Amino acid sequence: MIAASSSKLEKIVADFPILHEPTSRGKRLVFLDSAATSQKPQAVIDSLVEYYSKYNANIHRGVYELAARATEAFEAARDKVAGFLNAQPQEIIWTRNTTEAINLVSYAWGLNNIKAGDAILTTQLEHHSNLVPWQLLAEKTGAELRFIPVDDRGVHVLDNLDDLLKGCKLVALSHVSNTLGTIAPLEIIIPRAHAAGAIVLVDGAQAAPNMPVDVQALDADFYAISAHKMCGPTGIGVLYGKRALLEAMPPFLTGGDMIRKVEYAKSTFNDLPWKFEAGTSNIADAIAFGVAIDYLEGIGMEWVREHEHSIMRYAFERLQTLVPRGLTIYGPQDADKVADVISFNFADIHPHDLASLLDTEGVCVRAGHHCTMPLMEKMGWPATTRASFYIYNTEEDVEALVAGLEKAATVFKL
Ligand code: ALA
Repeated sequence: MIAASSSKLEKIVADFPILHEPTSRGKRLVFLDSAATSQKPQAVIDSLVEYYSKYNANIHRGVYELAARATEAFEAARDKVAGFLNAQPQEIIWTRNTTEAINLVSYAWGLNNIKAGDAILTTQLEHHSNLVPWQLLAEKTGAELRFIPVDDRGVHVLDNLDDLLKGCKLVALSHVSNTLGTIAPLEIIIPRAHAAGAIVLVDGAQAAPNMPVDVQALDADFYAISAHKMCGPTGIGVLYGKRALLEAMPPFLTGGDMIRKVEYAKSTFNDLPWKFEAGTSNIADAIAFGVAIDYLEGIGMEWVREHEHSIMRYAFERLQTLVPRGLTIYGPQDADKVADVISFNFADIHPHDLASLLDTEGVCVRAGHHCTMPLMEKMGWPATTRASFYIYNTEEDVEALVAGLEKAATVFKL
C-alpha cells in the first residue's frame, strides 16, 4: 500500500494502474522518471480504447455520423489544449511532439525570416531538440548562434543579455531544464527580447506538465509541448504560435487536409490551424491528450505545482543525509526555483550502475547525458543520475530512493 500525505494524493495514485503492478522482482514500482515520460491515468487509457472500439474514423473527410463524431472529439481536444495554455484554437497546431514543433518553426519561420548576419540566441541548458534545429538553421542561413550562459548551478546569467540580443531575430529557450530543473526567468528574457526586435520560442516540454502556463501572460511567440510528459499518450504534441506569425508562415509539411484547392500546377492552403497539419492526424492520441488535460485541470495546476514543490523539498532534505557519503546534487536546490528534476552523482559509482541497482529495488531513474551533451561537457560531468517527480509521487517514493542509495553505498563500499 502506498502511503500518501493526503486523500487527494491517494486518489491520484489510485488512478494510475501501472503504479499498482509489482515489478518483475516483486517490488513496488517507484517511478521517478516522469521527466522522460509520465505515467497515464486510467481515463486516458480508456479514451484510447473507446476511440478505437467505438468511433474510429478519419476526420475532416467523411460525411457519415462516425466521422463527424471523431472530428468533433479531435477538435474538442484542440479547444481543451487552447484553454489550458490560454490560447485560441486556431493557434494550436498538432505535432508529434515538442521536437517536431520546434523543427516546424525552424523550417517554416526560420528559413523565411533568418538571414546571414542575424543572430539566434539560445542557452547553455538546452535539450538537443532545442539546439540542433538552430545549429542547422544557422548553418543554412549564415546566422550566428549565441548562448545565454549558465553558472555552475545551471542558473541563467543575464549580465550580458542586452549585448547577446543585439541583431538577434530569435530567442529559443526551455521554460524548465530537463537535466537540472532550472526554471528560466522568462518574465525578464521575453520583454527584453521583444524590445530588441526578436521573437521568442519557448520549449515548454518540462514546464507545461508541472505548472500553470499562460502563453498570453508570458507573451511567448511560440510555445511547444508534448502530451506524453503530462499524462497523455506518446506521438502527440502541440505548437502554440501567435496567430499573425502562423498566418505569415508557409506550410511545413504538405499533402492532404492542409490544402484549400489543388490544381496540377499549384495549390492554395487551408486556414489555421489545419494549414500545418498535413496527412491523417494522430486522432486517437489527440483526443486522449484532451482527456489528459481534463484530468490535470480536474486536479488543478496550482495543486500540481504545490505538490511538486513539497515533494522536491522533501527529496532535497532527505538526499542531504547522503552528502557525507559522497552524494553530489547538481543544479539549484531551492525547491521553489526548480521543477520536478534532481540530478546527482554518488561518489564514483557510474550513473548507469547506480540506475541499474536502483532498478532492482523497483526505483526507475534516468542515467546518462539526458540529451544535453554540451551542458554535461561544460559542467565536466560525464553523466548524471536523474530522479524526476510528478503528481503521483509520494514521500514514500523519496524514501525508496534514499533506501536504494543507501544500499548502493553498501554494495559499492562507500
Ligand atoms: N526529454 C526527455 C528527458 O529529459 C526524454 O528524459
